[in-house]
Amino acid sequence: MALSPLRSIALKIDQTPMIFKTVGNLVEFLSKIRSQGKAVSFVPTMGNLHQGHLDLVDKAAELSNIVIVSIFVNPMQFGPHEDFDAYPRTLESDCKSLANRPCVAVFAPTVREIYPEGVNTEIDVPSLTTILCGHHRPGHFKGVATVVAKLLNIIKPDVAVFGNKDYQQLQVIRTMVADLLIPVTIVGADTTREPSGLAMSSRNMYLSAEEKETASMLYSTLTTISDELQNGTQISATLKYEKERLASAGFLLDYLEIRDAEDLSKSYVEADFAVILVAAKLGRARLIDNLVVNLNR
Ligand code: PAJ
Repeated sequence: MALSPLRSIALKIDQTPMIFKTVGNLVEFLSKIRSQGKAVSFVPTMGNLHQGHLDLVDKAAELSNIVIVSIFVNPMQFGPHEDFDAYPRTLESDCKSLANRPCVAVFAPTVREIYPEGVNTEIDVPSLTTILCGHHRPGHFKGVATVVAKLLNIIKPDVAVFGNKDYQQLQVIRTMVADLLIPVTIVGADTTREPSGLAMSSRNMYLSAEEKETASMLYSTLTTISDELQNGTQISATLKYEKERLASAGFLLDYLEIRDAEDLSKSYVEADFAVILVAAKLGRARLIDNLVVNLNR
């Protein structure tokens, strides 16, 4: 079987992905790709890639001819006391883990490339960015929305794939894309978990082996609440019990809440889908997880 021109080019470069560091070089490459009538998908990341990221890349590859994976630790989405400096920057091993995926190219710009004039324009979706994680991390989602808008403007993908793992982030992006009429299809992908149920995350590396075991409680909390919601059980006692259970295991809980899965409002009872969301600190790590529940029982 003959390889497509793109595959044969990519395969020649020793199985490591092409890396673009500047907007100019990436845009030039993409215009050639488009002139061949190829579909482009996009997976934004901050690097330190794990299986969860790779699953998004594989999903994106199913939906297009070429996947652009951005690796950019975005300073605008970190608060002044957060882990921007400590955040792992592992470009070389990230590229290795993308090797043998011939349709993947990496965009790894500098901060100056993405913010050449600093921050003069901010994108916000206040109804979604001030609640839940937005309440605990003021300005975080503004930083996310702004950088994602910039990256979508540069890449102009047909499809962009995000993880359901960052559920609130995904809803912010969906809303921003709809409101700003950005011509891209946003796809949400399932959360990839460790066998223990712990959602994979770059921040799990801050956990000790013992904390990692404890951290898997978050998922069991979500499944317990989900089962009770689907059974129609009165949920407030369960929520209280699960909050206490997490606290006594050593979690510092930011929130454990049930919301409408679409607009994240508190009135989920009439909704078709609810989402149970949890955010908690354990040791040095702030962990988030969620589970969507079909209420049409
Ligand atoms: P990052 O945390 O690197 O995550 C990149 C993408 O991977 C996000 O869409 C996230 O939801 C997804 N992801 C993370 N862990 C996952 C898991 N266990 N299973 C499935 N998907 C997972 O999210 C960001 O970066 C940034 O905020 C970004 C969108 C890149 C903007 O800077």
